[in-house]
Amino acid sequence: MGLRVAVAGATGAVGVEMLKVLERSSLNVDELHLLASSRSAGKTMTFKGEELTVKELTEDSFAGLDLALFSAGGSISKKFRQACVDAGCLMVDNSSAFRMEEGVPLVVPEVNPDAAKQHQGVIANPNCTTIIMLTALAPLHRVNPIKRIHAATYQAASGAGQAAMEELYNGTRAYLNEESFTPEVLPFPYAFNLFPHNSPLQENGYCEEEMKMVNETHKMLEDQSIKVHATCVRVPVLRTHAEALNIEFTNEMDIDEAYALLKGAPGVQVLEDRESNRWAMPIDASEQYDVYAGRIRKDISQDKTLDLWVVGDQLLKGAALNAVQIAELVLG
Ligand code: A2P
Repeated sequence: MGLRVAVAGATGAVGVEMLKVLERSSLNVDELHLLASSRSAGKTMTFKGEELTVKELTEDSFAGLDLALFSAGGSISKKFRQACVDAGCLMVDNSSAFRMEEGVPLVVPEVNPDAAKQHQGVIANPNCTTIIMLTALAPLHRVNPIKRIHAATYQAASGAGQAAMEELYNGTRAYLNEESFTPEVLPFPYAFNLFPHNSPLQENGYCEEEMKMVNETHKMLEDQSIKVHATCVRVPVLRTHAEALNIEFTNEMDIDEAYALLKGAPGVQVLEDRESNRWAMPIDASEQYDVYAGRIRKDISQDKTLDLWVVGDQLLKGAALNAVQIAELVLG
């Protein structure tokens, strides 16, 4: 018998992608339940050619289900966790609600697949920038442990949901038409602009997004001693994040060796044309499953250190795809 699956937040930017990824996945989905707020109840969405009706997410939504993919925000995940677990339904949660909780595995299948097996009903999907970064770094870290990561990120609108993507469209249109436009989803004008990530500022001056990269890297690589430093910036791109990574290793790492490791790594593609000075861009990685990496340089300022450029679709590997891959690991 196949699996009975729910997507909580099915109408959102990530939820819509979860449906598409599930259609292509190796999971044998027998039944799919689309759950969202009461605002969306009655809407229809298509899965494998069949029209399905969206229902309101309630505590009774999980009876008899095997898997629930959650992407409706942290407060919804917290509210429905117990009902989901009590129903014996595996919760794969895209929010940050449980990521740092002991007993909740935080998993990228290419990085720490074994952690998924320790779950007690809930598995957390990591932060999108961290997933994209570690998918590219894990194959290097395995042969030459990383001592320090410095990351600068260029993050797309999709990380703030469907409404932020629409605001980028509308703000751009208004800008081109020389009309006034007041942003409502993001705090600042986004079209033809950029700003440091707007997640809440912490006492140490880092924003929450930056600290997620620090803390989640430590948890997934199971090494608190790795120094991680990040500067996260929102740029007016729709759905793909880019990251400039500066990585200090334990030992010297040859550029050719790094390229060879990335070329052989699952979930990673090397994409670049050095002669044309062309490197992976959001237009290359958007709607693609793999993370695209390249532009490896030896840091001229410091030994044992390489620079790496990575781009990845925030909605896919950064969210929906990774969540479905976690489910494939455990239930496939
Ligand atoms: P809805 O479309 O009915 O508001 P995004 O991340 O793109 O903003 O999407 C958020 C997702 O979470 C949407 O599917 C949204 O449904 C869903 N959601 C928001 N609030 C609730 C709620 N109170 N109960 C269930 N789903 C919710």
